Amino acid sequence: MRIAIGCDHGGIVLKPAVLAYLKEKDIEITDFGTNDTASVDYPIYAKKVAEAVASGAADKGILLCGTGIGMSIAANKVKGIRAAVLSDEFSAAACSAHNNANILCLGGRVVSPEKAVKLVDLWLTTPFEGDRHNRRLQIIAEMDERK
Ligand code: RB5
Repeated sequence: MRIAIGCDHGGIVLKPAVLAYLKEKDIEITDFGTNDTASVDYPIYAKKVAEAVASGAADKGILLCGTGIGMSIAANKVKGIRAAVLSDEFSAAACSAHNNANILCLGGRVVSPEKAVKLVDLWLTTPFEGDRHNRRLQIIAEMDERK
């Protein structure tokens, strides 16, 4: 498993715990920054991670900002990306089982580092259920084609 990660100054508080979790699981990480608390523009990082996932350079992506919202809006502009922003365990499992989300967006001003790790773990370990959900994702893919 190869995961691309990116964050801004609002999400960097979650990054050490998420990186430690990924390393513990022997996941290959591509870190697109940022790496300090100086104010930066989150779409720059969302674009880098989303393009890495869309191109196949990474299997999945993680984006961290203040709320996760800006990162998800930006990442979902890239064709083939299904970025989910969430802060609860049920949605973390469901975004994998139902939506096959290939990017997880979390907010450093919304969840604690411990909660972030729990959400990442649920997202990564919950299998996509396929079946009727494939049909729904196909409709979304067709919307991508018409852009
Ligand atoms: C930065 O202050 C903040 O707007 C950003 O981290 C994020 O929350 C955007 O959605």
